[in-house]
Amino acid sequence: MKILFYMPHTDAAAWLHDLARALPEAHLREWQQGDTEPADFAVVWRPPHEMLAGRDTLRAIFNLGAGVDAILALEREHPGTLPRNAPLIRLEDTGMAVQMTEYVTHAVLRYLRRFDEYQALQNERRWQVLEPHPRASFTVGVLGLGVLGTQVAQTLATFGLPVRGYSRSAKQIDGIATFAGSEQFDAFLDGAKVLVNLLPHTPDTGNVLNARTFAKLARGAYLINVARGAHLVEADLLDALASGQLAGATLDVFREEPLPADHPFWREPRITITPHVSALTLREESVGQIARKIEALMRGEPVSGIVEQERGY
Ligand code: NAP
Ligand code: GLV
Repeated sequence: MKILFYMPHTDAAAWLHDLARALPEAHLREWQQGDTEPADFAVVWRPPHEMLAGRDTLRAIFNLGAGVDAILALEREHPGTLPRNAPLIRLEDTGMAVQMTEYVTHAVLRYLRRFDEYQALQNERRWQVLEPHPRASFTVGVLGLGVLGTQVAQTLATFGLPVRGYSRSAKQIDGIATFAGSEQFDAFLDGAKVLVNLLPHTPDTGNVLNARTFAKLARGAYLINVARGAHLVEADLLDALASGQLAGATLDVFREEPLPADHPFWREPRITITPHVSALTLREESVGQIARKIEALMRGEPVSGIVEQERGY
């Protein structure tokens, strides 16, 4: 069995080493420009079009992330890049859910307990007690109730906060008020104090974080975007902060990454910026999951995590 690997800006040797240990029968190689030799499986992150084009022998492509927007965009730009009969399989959790839960919980509790405001008071050496936010109305809305969003929502509910979740198909999750489909979107948003975005970026979800969405939230609400930069209309966020409709935002993802040095977000103190690190792809967990799925496919068994290309995730 031949496996082709491609992941820019990483220690490829370490990945190949771990994959070889998990799949001793496999012949592994890192893809180099011009390599058109056959392969059975591809393990990739943001591959160039030339790597996948014409690879009819592939039995599956493994995406080294939860989000498949980049590889599906490649298919839209170069139709036929993804082999018709090879499933595209994404990472499912592989240690991302706990990281995402830590990140979002930290941000929500920081806003709930007014830590930024206390920090500002400390900077002025002022000892002042601020009115606590009433917990009962500190409603958190989580966009996306998939592998990551569900764990985030359930964890936030353990703090006694009212938590809502929004998905495409209807769900029942203990302790979460669930909403599904565009007809329930406004009810999901209505008066929420924090909006967390964990949707995949698809043709249906781009620009979902916009002025209309922000206007439905409570005045002085907070935004936490940990999904994709293309979900956010950047000018609408700056306007909402300027008007006071939003009080702050925590952003891990951006339309352009790295965020350009002259981007206005860097100069807005109410925006907290991290460099796309809320849930990293972990090598050990990812190699383990991919190896188990390759073994299952070799035995002719079904695997989970297959992307439905028409719906975009
Ligand atoms: P997932 O398991 O596929 O869950 C996606 C959720 O979004 C599902 O609940 C789905 O609804 C819902 N959804 C999709 N399209 C929708 C629509 N049009 N309207 C309403 N709901 C919709 O994905 P995941 O593993 O949780 O990951 C979510 C996203 O997080 C990824 O796509 C990626 O972009 C992002 N991410 C970011 C980082 C980072 O470091 N910043 C790391 C990992 C992932 P159904 O349940 O009804 O299908
Ligand atoms: C990271 O952004 C991922 O999609 O896994």
